Amino acid sequence: MGEGLELQAVRRDGTAIPVEISLSPSNLESGEGHVICAVRDISAWKRMRRLSGMLIAAAENERKHLSRELHDEFLQSLVALKIRMKLLADERDDGKRERARDRIAGEIHDTIRGVKRMIRGLLPPELEHRGLASALASAFADIRDVYGFTVHASLDAVADELDAVAALALYRIVQEAVTNAMRHSGVNEAAMTLSLADGMVTATVRDEGGGFEPDPETLPSDGRVGLTGMRERAALVGGAAIVKSSPGKGTTVRASVPVADPQRQGE
Ligand SMILES: Nc1ncnc2c1ncn2[C@@H]1O[C@H](COP(=O)(O)OP(=O)(O)OP(=O)(O)O)[C@@H](O)[C@H]1O
Ligand SMILES: [Mg+2]
Repeated sequence: MGEGLELQAVRRDGTAIPVEISLSPSNLESGEGHVICAVRDISAWKRMRRLSGMLIAAAENERKHLSRELHDEFLQSLVALKIRMKLLADERDDGKRERARDRIAGEIHDTIRGVKRMIRGLLPPELEHRGLASALASAFADIRDVYGFTVHASLDAVADELDAVAALALYRIVQEAVTNAMRHSGVNEAAMTLSLADGMVTATVRDEGGGFEPDPETLPSDGRVGLTGMRERAALVGGAAIVKSSPGKGTTVRASVPVADPQRQGE
C-alpha cells in the first residue's frame, strides 16, 4: 500500500478513521492466489502521538515562561538590591540611610511575594491544602493585583469532591481560559462559576470580549497549545472541555470532570 501513505477508512456510521492496511499475498493449496488484508484502526495511536507532541510543546512553553519570569522579575530585583546595598554602605547622611534601608526592605518584601506567586503558578500549594475553590480564589486575587484583570467568581458550590488529579486538571483549564480572556478578549473582566451536578464538577469561564472563530480540529501549531491542552487535560481525567465563541460575541469555556467515585476510593 506504500510506506507512509495516509489511509482512511469509513465506518458504517459514516465517520472516517485513519487506518493502516497491510496486504499479504498467499497461495492456497488449490493453487488459487489470495491476498490477506488487515485493516487496523490507528486513531488511538495518532491521538497519542499528537498528545505527546503537545505535551512536549507545553513543557517547552512552560520553561520559556519560567526563564522569562526569573530573568525579568527576580534577576532585576536582585541586581537593584545589590546596587541599593552598595549605595547604603556609602551613605553618610542618617536620614537618607534610613530611607534607603526602607526601600531595601520594601524591595525584599516584593521579591518574596513574587517568588511565592511563581511557586503558586507552578503547583499551587492551596490546591493540595485547601481545595480547588480556595486555590482559584487566591489565583484570581493575584491576577487582579498583578494584571488589573478581574474574575467575578462564584465558587461556593464545590468543596472537596474532586481527587487531586481531577482538581489539578480543572485548575489548569480555568487558568488557561482566564489567561486567554486576559490576553485575547480585549476586556478586563471575566465571570467564572463552579458547579456540581450529576457526578460532575463543571467550571465555566465567560468573557464578553471580542471572541473568535474556534476550530474544533485545532492542532497545536505555531506553539499555540492552550485550547487543545484544555480539551486533552479534561479528556485525560474522563471529562470534557468545550469552547464556544464567535467574533464579537465573547467566549465561553466549559469544562467538566467526574468527581471521585466513593466506591473506587482506596483502590
Ligand atoms: N477568550 C478569548 N477571546 C478572544 N480570542 C481568544 C480567546 N481565547 C482564545 N482566543 C483565540 O484563540 C487562539 C488560540 O488560543 P490558545 O490558548 O490555543 O493559544 P494562545 O493563547 O495564543 O497561546 P498559548 O499556547 O500560550 O495558550 C488565540 O490565539 C486567540 O486568537
Ligand atoms: Mg492560551
